[in-house]
Amino acid sequence: MIQDRYHYLAAKHVVALAHEFKLAPTEVFEVATFYHHFDVIRENEIPPPSLIVRVCDSMSCRMAGAENLIQELDQKFDESIRVQRVPCVGRCQHAPVAVVGQNPVDLANPVKVQQKSELNDTIPSLPDYVDYNAYRTAGGYQVFQSCIKGERQPKEVIEVLKNSNLRGLGGAGFPAGMKWDIVRKFEGPRLLAVNIDEGEPGTFKDRYFLESDPHRFLEGCLIACWAVGIEEIYLYLRDEYAACRTLLLKELEALKNDPPEKLPKIHGHATTETALCCRGRAFWSPNPGAQS
Ligand code: FES
Repeated sequence: MIQDRYHYLAAKHVVALAHEFKLAPTEVFEVATFYHHFDVIRENEIPPPSLIVRVCDSMSCRMAGAENLIQELDQKFDESIRVQRVPCVGRCQHAPVAVVGQNPVDLANPVKVQQKSELNDTIPSLPDYVDYNAYRTAGGYQVFQSCIKGERQPKEVIEVLKNSNLRGLGGAGFPAGMKWDIVRKFEGPRLLAVNIDEGEPGTFKDRYFLESDPHRFLEGCLIACWAVGIEEIYLYLRDEYAACRTLLLKELEALKNDPPEKLPKIHGHATTETALCCRGRAFWSPNPGAQS
């Protein structure tokens, strides 16, 4: 929130934040300097310009000409706009990619990036996707309803998951059905943490399905909660996916206003100020009253 508001984190912010969280300033500093979306400014440094153009220089974009793009933008822009090299922004199929503020420029070239920057066109537009009404009309949330009504049993659903051979893609390839089964046997309370992050070049599956069919993902979360006996859901969304955040907040609100069954708590941190500005490693919520 501090970064979103001031466009940087001053040393005094880091100290104040450490005080708020009862942490050592070094711990806040470590996190703040790990993510390129945070700009930590020391006492005598000049804050960066508020408009940042991020250019992905990971594999796919590099092969598609990111280096030339960065050099040309560096020459084009004066000090009122900062050009920053960043790792994969999850749009590799459109390489090379630049992001003006939070607005991605696919198949970027200097002219397109300059036009958006001069217009201060920094907010991404939402893609076409299956919204709440369309999902319900097509039979969405009926599986979740059948679970709650007792027409299915948790063990049966976990068995289906096991037989599907669905595995995590975080590196360990751990079978999802086995994970659900193991966690279910632990004493509660149990929590579901959904890690919507992907930063490896060539990986943009999360963004793709969230931007096309978000309720299929949400119904999966609800079924997982029911099958495993989970009370609360925490969602983490990477900072790069600003359109996803807007879309998910909107659709979670629609779900909350017309729930197919009683919902578990889906919560974290969201304020009006940050409604369009998700910040890496922050949790967020469709329910401003449910702050973590
Ligand atoms: S490598 Fe550039 S968006 Fe993924």
